[in-house]
Amino acid sequence: MFETLQPAAPDKILALIGLFRDDPRPNKVDLGVGVYKDPEGRTPVMRAVRAAERRLYDEQGSKSYVGLAGDPGFNTAMVSLVFGPGADTSRLRAVQAPGGSGALRVIAELLHRSRPQATVWISDPTWPNHVPILNAAGLKTASYPYFDAATGTVRFDAMMAALGDAAAGDVVLLHGCCHNPTGADLTHAQWSALADLLVERQLFPFVDIAYQGFGDGLDADAAGLRLLAARVPELAAASSCSKNLSVYRDRVGAAILLGRTPAEADTALSQLLSVARGMYSMPPDHGAAVVRIILSDPALRAEWEGELDEIRARMIRLREGFADALRRQSNSDRFDFVARHRGMFSRLGLTVEQVARLREKHGVYMVDDSRINVAGLPDDRLDDLAKAVVSVLD
Ligand SMILES: Cc1ncc(COP(=O)(O)O)c(C=O)c1O
Repeated sequence: MFETLQPAAPDKILALIGLFRDDPRPNKVDLGVGVYKDPEGRTPVMRAVRAAERRLYDEQGSKSYVGLAGDPGFNTAMVSLVFGPGADTSRLRAVQAPGGSGALRVIAELLHRSRPQATVWISDPTWPNHVPILNAAGLKTASYPYFDAATGTVRFDAMMAALGDAAAGDVVLLHGCCHNPTGADLTHAQWSALADLLVERQLFPFVDIAYQGFGDGLDADAAGLRLLAARVPELAAASSCSKNLSVYRDRVGAAILLGRTPAEADTALSQLLSVARGMYSMPPDHGAAVVRIILSDPALRAEWEGELDEIRARMIRLREGFADALRRQSNSDRFDFVARHRGMFSRLGLTVEQVARLREKHGVYMVDDSRINVAGLPDDRLDDLAKAVVSVLD
Protein backbone atom coordinates (compact mmCIF):
# COMPACT_ATOMS: atom_id res chain seq x y z
CA MET A 1 0.00 0.00 0.00
CA PHE A 2 2.31 2.75 1.18
CA GLU A 3 4.99 2.06 -1.46
CA THR A 4 3.02 4.26 -3.86
CA LEU A 5 3.41 7.35 -1.66
CA GLN A 6 5.99 10.10 -1.88
CA PRO A 7 6.97 12.04 1.27
CA ALA A 8 4.77 15.10 1.75
CA ALA A 9 6.48 18.51 1.61
CA PRO A 10 7.76 19.47 5.07
CA ASP A 11 5.98 22.31 6.87
CA LYS A 12 8.10 25.46 6.47
CA ILE A 13 7.23 26.91 9.88
CA LEU A 14 8.06 23.63 11.66
CA ALA A 15 11.41 23.57 9.84
CA LEU A 16 12.04 27.16 11.02
CA ILE A 17 11.24 26.15 14.62
CA GLY A 18 13.89 23.40 14.33
CA LEU A 19 16.52 25.82 12.99
CA PHE A 20 15.75 28.30 15.79
CA ARG A 21 15.95 25.61 18.48
CA ASP A 22 19.37 24.48 17.23
CA ASP A 23 20.81 28.02 17.04
CA PRO A 24 23.19 28.45 20.04
CA ARG A 25 23.28 32.31 19.91
CA PRO A 26 21.82 33.71 23.16
CA ASN A 27 20.32 36.80 21.50
CA LYS A 28 18.43 34.93 18.78
CA VAL A 29 14.90 36.21 18.11
CA ASP A 30 11.97 34.06 16.97
CA LEU A 31 9.47 36.04 14.90
CA GLY A 32 8.32 32.97 12.97
CA VAL A 33 5.75 30.99 14.90
CA GLY A 34 2.03 31.68 14.69
CA VAL A 35 1.09 31.69 18.38
CA TYR A 36 0.88 34.59 20.83
CA LYS A 37 3.87 34.88 23.15
CA ASP A 38 4.12 36.90 26.36
CA PRO A 39 7.21 38.97 27.27
CA GLU A 40 8.86 35.80 28.63
CA GLY A 41 8.29 34.01 25.32
CA ARG A 42 5.58 31.73 26.76
CA THR A 43 2.05 31.02 25.57
CA PRO A 44 0.34 30.69 28.96
CA VAL A 45 -3.12 29.33 29.77
CA MET A 46 -5.38 32.36 30.37
CA ARG A 47 -6.60 32.89 33.94
CA ALA A 48 -10.26 32.76 32.89
CA VAL A 49 -9.64 29.48 31.05
CA ARG A 50 -8.03 27.91 34.13
CA ALA A 51 -10.96 28.99 36.31
CA ALA A 52 -13.50 27.65 33.81
CA GLU A 53 -11.60 24.35 33.53
CA ARG A 54 -11.75 23.96 37.33
CA ARG A 55 -15.47 24.60 37.25
CA LEU A 56 -15.95 22.11 34.43
CA TYR A 57 -13.95 19.49 36.33
CA ASP A 58 -16.16 19.93 39.41
CA GLU A 59 -19.46 20.07 37.58
CA GLN A 60 -19.20 17.67 34.64
CA GLY A 61 -21.06 14.49 35.57
CA SER A 62 -20.84 12.61 32.28
CA LYS A 63 -18.71 12.32 29.20
CA SER A 64 -21.46 10.82 27.10
CA TYR A 65 -21.85 12.11 23.51
CA VAL A 66 -23.05 15.70 23.14
CA GLY A 67 -24.30 15.70 19.53
CA LEU A 68 -23.29 16.51 15.96
CA ALA A 69 -23.49 20.28 16.46
CA GLY A 70 -21.41 20.12 19.65
CA ASP A 71 -22.29 22.22 22.70
CA PRO A 72 -25.50 24.21 22.01
CA GLY A 73 -24.64 26.84 24.65
CA PHE A 74 -21.24 27.34 23.01
CA ASN A 75 -22.87 27.77 19.59
CA THR A 76 -25.31 30.39 20.88
CA ALA A 77 -22.52 32.26 22.67
CA MET A 78 -20.32 32.22 19.55
CA VAL A 79 -23.08 33.65 17.34
CA SER A 80 -23.42 36.49 19.84
CA LEU A 81 -19.64 37.02 20.11
CA VAL A 82 -19.14 37.12 16.35
CA PHE A 83 -22.34 38.78 15.12
CA GLY A 84 -23.05 40.90 18.22
CA PRO A 85 -25.48 40.42 21.11
CA GLY A 86 -28.22 42.27 19.19
CA ALA A 87 -27.91 40.20 16.00
CA ASP A 88 -31.10 38.90 14.40
CA THR A 89 -30.53 35.17 14.85
CA SER A 90 -33.53 33.99 12.83
CA ARG A 91 -31.32 33.24 9.80
CA LEU A 92 -28.06 32.40 11.65
CA ARG A 93 -27.07 28.81 12.43
CA ALA A 94 -23.88 27.60 14.15
CA VAL A 95 -22.04 24.32 14.52
CA GLN A 96 -19.10 23.77 16.87
CA ALA A 97 -16.03 22.67 14.90
CA PRO A 98 -12.50 21.43 15.66
CA GLY A 99 -10.76 24.82 15.57
CA GLY A 100 -11.01 27.49 12.90
CA SER A 101 -9.44 25.02 10.45
CA GLY A 102 -12.21 22.48 11.11
CA ALA A 103 -14.81 25.21 10.61
CA LEU A 104 -13.20 26.25 7.32
CA ARG A 105 -13.13 22.65 6.16
CA VAL A 106 -16.76 21.75 6.95
CA ILE A 107 -17.98 24.98 5.34
CA ALA A 108 -15.82 24.25 2.28
CA GLU A 109 -17.41 20.78 2.04
CA LEU A 110 -20.86 22.34 2.33
CA LEU A 111 -20.10 24.87 -0.43
CA HIS A 112 -18.86 22.04 -2.64
CA ARG A 113 -22.03 20.04 -2.02
CA SER A 114 -24.11 23.04 -2.85
CA ARG A 115 -22.21 24.52 -5.79
CA PRO A 116 -19.38 22.20 -6.92
CA GLN A 117 -18.40 24.43 -9.87
CA ALA A 118 -17.87 27.55 -7.76
CA THR A 119 -14.43 29.13 -7.61
CA VAL A 120 -13.27 30.40 -4.23
CA TRP A 121 -11.41 33.72 -4.56
CA ILE A 122 -8.62 34.06 -2.02
CA SER A 123 -6.46 37.08 -1.21
CA ASP A 124 -2.91 37.24 -2.58
CA PRO A 125 -1.28 36.47 -0.21
CA THR A 126 -3.33 34.48 2.26
CA TRP A 127 -2.84 32.03 5.13
CA PRO A 128 -1.08 29.11 3.40
CA ASN A 129 -3.52 26.51 4.77
CA HIS A 130 -6.50 28.04 2.97
CA VAL A 131 -5.60 26.45 -0.36
CA PRO A 132 -5.16 22.84 0.86
CA ILE A 133 -8.32 23.08 2.97
CA LEU A 134 -10.40 24.34 0.03
CA ASN A 135 -8.83 21.96 -2.48
CA ALA A 136 -9.34 18.99 -0.15
CA ALA A 137 -13.07 19.77 -0.29
CA GLY A 138 -12.89 19.71 -4.10
CA LEU A 139 -13.17 23.48 -4.59
CA LYS A 140 -11.17 25.44 -7.16
CA THR A 141 -9.37 28.59 -6.08
CA ALA A 142 -8.31 31.80 -7.82
CA SER A 143 -6.62 34.76 -6.19
CA TYR A 144 -7.44 38.47 -6.05
CA PRO A 145 -4.72 41.10 -5.52
CA TYR A 146 -4.63 42.22 -1.90
CA PHE A 147 -1.32 43.54 -0.61
CA ASP A 148 1.18 46.10 -1.86
CA ALA A 149 4.48 45.01 -0.28
CA ALA A 150 6.19 48.32 -1.06
CA THR A 151 3.71 50.44 0.90
CA GLY A 152 2.31 47.80 3.27
CA THR A 153 -1.24 48.72 2.24
CA VAL A 154 -4.26 46.96 0.73
CA ARG A 155 -4.53 47.16 -3.08
CA PHE A 156 -8.21 47.82 -2.79
CA ASP A 157 -8.89 49.07 -6.33
CA ALA A 158 -7.12 46.07 -7.85
CA MET A 159 -8.98 43.74 -5.47
CA MET A 160 -12.34 45.21 -6.47
CA ALA A 161 -11.45 45.05 -10.17
CA ALA A 162 -10.52 41.35 -9.92
CA LEU A 163 -13.67 40.50 -7.95
CA GLY A 164 -15.69 42.43 -10.52
CA ASP A 165 -14.67 39.71 -13.00
CA ALA A 166 -15.73 36.79 -10.76
CA ALA A 167 -18.69 34.74 -11.99
CA ALA A 168 -22.04 35.07 -10.25
CA GLY A 169 -22.24 32.37 -7.59
CA ASP A 170 -18.49 32.36 -6.86
CA VAL A 171 -17.23 32.52 -3.28
CA VAL A 172 -14.98 35.27 -1.86
CA LEU A 173 -12.86 34.24 1.11
CA LEU A 174 -12.14 37.25 3.35
CA HIS A 175 -10.15 37.68 6.55
CA GLY A 176 -12.52 39.21 9.12
CA CYS A 177 -9.64 41.10 10.78
CA CYS A 178 -5.90 40.91 11.43
CA HIS A 179 -5.11 39.61 7.94
CA ASN A 180 -2.63 36.73 8.02
CA PRO A 181 0.13 37.08 6.82
CA THR A 182 0.08 40.82 6.04
CA GLY A 183 -1.57 42.58 9.01
CA ALA A 184 -3.31 44.95 6.54
CA ASP A 185 -7.10 45.13 6.94
CA LEU A 186 -9.96 46.76 5.04
CA THR A 187 -11.33 50.07 6.35
CA HIS A 188 -15.01 50.45 7.18
CA ALA A 189 -15.57 52.32 3.89
CA GLN A 190 -13.84 49.50 1.99
CA TRP A 191 -16.00 46.83 3.66
CA SER A 192 -19.02 48.87 2.64
CA ALA A 193 -17.92 49.18 -1.00
CA LEU A 194 -17.12 45.46 -1.00
CA ALA A 195 -20.61 44.66 0.33
CA ASP A 196 -22.12 46.58 -2.61
CA LEU A 197 -19.97 44.63 -5.07
CA LEU A 198 -20.82 41.25 -3.50
CA VAL A 199 -24.53 42.01 -3.74
CA GLU A 200 -24.32 43.39 -7.27
CA ARG A 201 -22.19 40.52 -8.61
CA GLN A 202 -24.04 37.85 -6.58
CA LEU A 203 -20.88 36.63 -4.86
CA PHE A 204 -20.96 34.61 -1.66
CA PRO A 205 -18.79 35.90 1.23
CA PHE A 206 -16.93 33.32 3.31
CA VAL A 207 -15.30 35.10 6.23
CA ASP A 208 -12.42 33.58 8.19
CA ILE A 209 -12.27 35.31 11.59
CA ALA A 210 -9.41 33.76 13.54
CA TYR A 211 -8.14 36.77 15.52
CA GLN A 212 -11.23 38.54 16.88
CA GLY A 213 -10.02 40.78 19.72
CA PHE A 214 -6.38 40.87 18.55
CA GLY A 215 -6.81 44.00 16.38
CA ASP A 216 -8.85 46.86 17.82
CA GLY A 217 -11.28 45.03 20.13
CA LEU A 218 -13.89 42.25 20.06
CA ASP A 219 -16.62 44.38 18.46
CA ALA A 220 -14.37 46.53 16.26
CA ASP A 221 -12.72 43.42 14.80
CA ALA A 222 -16.07 41.93 13.81
CA ALA A 223 -17.45 45.18 12.37
CA GLY A 224 -16.67 44.28 8.74
CA LEU A 225 -18.33 40.89 9.05
CA ARG A 226 -21.34 42.42 10.81
CA LEU A 227 -21.63 45.04 8.07
CA LEU A 228 -21.69 42.28 5.44
CA ALA A 229 -24.27 40.29 7.42
CA ALA A 230 -26.57 43.32 7.43
CA ARG A 231 -26.27 43.81 3.67
CA VAL A 232 -25.77 40.48 1.86
CA PRO A 233 -28.47 37.83 1.59
CA GLU A 234 -26.32 34.94 2.78
CA LEU A 235 -22.79 34.18 3.98
CA ALA A 236 -20.62 31.78 5.98
CA ALA A 237 -18.11 32.49 8.74
CA ALA A 238 -15.39 30.32 10.29
CA SER A 239 -14.48 31.51 13.77
CA SER A 240 -11.53 30.30 15.84
CA CYS A 241 -11.02 30.51 19.63
CA SER A 242 -7.42 29.28 19.33
CA LYS A 243 -5.86 32.74 19.61
CA ASN A 244 -8.29 34.95 21.51
CA LEU A 245 -8.81 32.34 24.23
CA SER A 246 -5.39 30.76 23.82
CA VAL A 247 -6.88 27.25 23.59
CA TYR A 248 -4.88 26.26 20.50
CA ARG A 249 -4.52 22.55 21.21
CA ASP A 250 -8.06 22.08 22.48
CA ARG A 251 -9.39 22.74 18.96
CA VAL A 252 -12.27 25.15 19.43
CA GLY A 253 -14.05 26.91 16.59
CA ALA A 254 -17.46 27.53 15.10
CA ALA A 255 -18.90 27.31 11.59
CA ILE A 256 -21.68 29.88 11.27
CA LEU A 257 -24.12 30.24 8.36
CA LEU A 258 -26.43 33.10 7.45
CA GLY A 259 -29.21 31.81 5.19
CA ARG A 260 -31.46 33.73 2.83
CA THR A 261 -34.50 32.61 4.86
CA PRO A 262 -34.88 30.73 8.16
CA ALA A 263 -35.94 27.64 6.18
CA GLU A 264 -32.85 27.77 3.92
CA ALA A 265 -30.68 28.27 6.99
CA ASP A 266 -32.20 25.12 8.55
CA THR A 267 -31.58 23.08 5.42
CA ALA A 268 -27.98 24.31 5.16
CA LEU A 269 -27.46 23.48 8.85
CA SER A 270 -28.75 19.93 8.32
CA GLN A 271 -26.27 19.47 5.44
CA LEU A 272 -23.45 20.95 7.53
CA LEU A 273 -24.18 18.41 10.27
CA SER A 274 -24.17 15.63 7.68
CA VAL A 275 -20.75 16.86 6.45
CA ALA A 276 -19.42 16.76 10.03
CA ARG A 277 -20.87 13.27 10.51
CA GLY A 278 -18.89 12.01 7.54
CA MET A 279 -15.63 13.66 8.60
CA TYR A 280 -15.20 13.36 12.37
CA SER A 281 -18.74 12.76 13.65
CA MET A 282 -18.59 15.13 16.61
CA PRO A 283 -16.25 17.90 17.70
CA PRO A 284 -14.14 17.59 20.88
CA ASP A 285 -16.07 18.91 23.88
CA HIS A 286 -13.61 20.11 26.52
CA GLY A 287 -12.40 23.42 25.05
CA ALA A 288 -15.83 24.44 23.77
CA ALA A 289 -17.38 23.75 27.19
CA VAL A 290 -14.70 25.96 28.75
CA VAL A 291 -15.39 28.76 26.25
CA ARG A 292 -19.15 28.42 26.86
CA ILE A 293 -18.59 28.79 30.63
CA ILE A 294 -16.46 31.91 30.12
CA LEU A 295 -18.77 33.60 27.63
CA SER A 296 -21.87 32.98 29.72
CA ASP A 297 -20.51 33.95 33.16
CA PRO A 298 -20.26 37.75 33.57
CA ALA A 299 -17.30 37.63 36.00
CA LEU A 300 -15.25 35.13 33.97
CA ARG A 301 -16.08 36.96 30.79
CA ALA A 302 -14.87 40.26 32.25
CA GLU A 303 -11.66 38.55 33.40
CA TRP A 304 -11.10 37.11 29.92
CA GLU A 305 -11.82 40.40 28.17
CA GLY A 306 -9.33 42.10 30.50
CA GLU A 307 -6.63 39.56 29.63
CA LEU A 308 -7.40 39.96 25.93
CA ASP A 309 -7.17 43.77 26.28
CA GLU A 310 -3.69 43.36 27.81
CA ILE A 311 -2.56 41.11 24.96
CA ARG A 312 -3.88 43.51 22.32
CA ALA A 313 -2.39 46.58 24.02
CA ARG A 314 1.00 44.85 24.23
CA MET A 315 0.99 44.01 20.52
CA ILE A 316 0.04 47.58 19.58
CA ARG A 317 2.80 48.93 21.87
CA LEU A 318 5.33 46.61 20.24
CA ARG A 319 4.15 47.64 16.77
CA GLU A 320 4.59 51.32 17.62
CA GLY A 321 7.96 50.75 19.29
CA PHE A 322 9.30 48.73 16.37
CA ALA A 323 8.01 51.21 13.76
CA ASP A 324 9.74 54.04 15.73
CA ALA A 325 12.97 52.06 15.92
CA LEU A 326 12.82 51.28 12.19
CA ARG A 327 12.25 54.97 11.44
CA ARG A 328 15.28 55.94 13.54
CA GLN A 329 17.52 53.26 12.05
CA SER A 330 16.46 53.64 8.42
CA ASN A 331 15.99 57.42 8.50
CA SER A 332 12.78 56.91 6.57
CA ASP A 333 9.09 56.22 7.04
CA ARG A 334 9.30 53.10 4.87
CA PHE A 335 8.22 50.79 7.71
CA ASP A 336 5.60 53.03 9.32
CA PHE A 337 2.94 50.55 8.18
CA VAL A 338 4.04 48.21 10.99
CA ALA A 339 2.33 50.58 13.47
CA ARG A 340 -0.80 50.83 11.35
CA HIS A 341 -1.21 47.08 10.80
CA ARG A 342 -3.26 45.06 13.24
CA GLY A 343 -3.15 41.58 14.75
CA MET A 344 -0.22 39.29 15.30
CA PHE A 345 1.45 39.61 11.89
CA SER A 346 3.03 42.10 9.53
CA ARG A 347 4.91 41.52 6.34
CA LEU A 348 8.07 43.61 6.24
CA GLY A 349 8.48 43.39 2.45
CA LEU A 350 11.97 41.80 2.49
CA THR A 351 13.26 39.38 -0.14
CA VAL A 352 13.92 35.70 0.63
CA GLU A 353 17.66 36.47 0.52
CA GLN A 354 17.32 39.33 2.99
CA VAL A 355 15.31 37.07 5.33
CA ALA A 356 18.06 34.41 5.06
CA ARG A 357 20.76 37.00 5.83
CA LEU A 358 18.85 38.17 8.91
CA ARG A 359 18.72 34.59 10.13
CA GLU A 360 22.33 33.71 9.36
CA LYS A 361 24.07 36.93 10.40
CA HIS A 362 21.81 38.20 13.18
CA GLY A 363 19.90 35.16 14.51
CA VAL A 364 16.56 36.79 13.61
CA TYR A 365 14.07 34.17 12.45
CA MET A 366 11.02 34.91 10.30
CA VAL A 367 9.05 33.15 7.57
CA ASP A 368 10.55 33.39 4.04
CA ASP A 369 7.90 35.88 2.93
CA SER A 370 9.15 38.24 5.72
CA ARG A 371 6.06 37.78 7.88
CA ILE A 372 6.86 38.62 11.49
CA ASN A 373 4.93 37.68 14.63
CA VAL A 374 4.93 41.00 16.50
CA ALA A 375 4.33 39.19 19.81
CA GLY A 376 7.87 37.79 19.44
CA LEU A 377 9.51 41.26 19.28
CA PRO A 378 11.86 41.80 22.26
CA ASP A 379 10.68 45.03 24.03
CA ASP A 380 14.16 45.90 25.26
CA ARG A 381 16.04 45.33 21.98
CA LEU A 382 13.85 46.92 19.33
CA ASP A 383 16.64 49.22 18.11
CA ASP A 384 19.10 46.33 17.73
CA LEU A 385 16.51 44.42 15.78
CA ALA A 386 15.66 47.42 13.59
CA LYS A 387 19.39 47.95 12.94
CA ALA A 388 19.70 44.31 11.82
CA VAL A 389 16.70 44.68 9.46
CA VAL A 390 18.10 47.88 7.96
CA SER A 391 21.56 46.27 7.56
CA VAL A 392 20.21 43.62 5.17
CA LEU A 393 18.30 46.07 2.98
CA ASP A 394 21.12 46.73 0.49
C1 LIG B 1 -6.10 33.07 8.99
C2 LIG B 1 -6.30 31.87 9.86
N1 LIG B 1 -7.43 31.17 9.76
C3 LIG B 1 -7.68 30.10 10.52
C4 LIG B 1 -6.76 29.65 11.42
C5 LIG B 1 -7.13 28.42 12.18
O1 LIG B 1 -6.72 28.25 13.42
P1 LIG B 1 -7.11 26.97 14.29
O2 LIG B 1 -7.49 25.87 13.37
O3 LIG B 1 -5.88 26.67 15.06
O4 LIG B 1 -8.25 27.40 15.15
C6 LIG B 1 -5.53 30.34 11.56
C7 LIG B 1 -4.49 29.88 12.48
O5 LIG B 1 -3.34 30.17 12.40
C8 LIG B 1 -5.32 31.48 10.77
O6 LIG B 1 -4.19 32.19 10.85
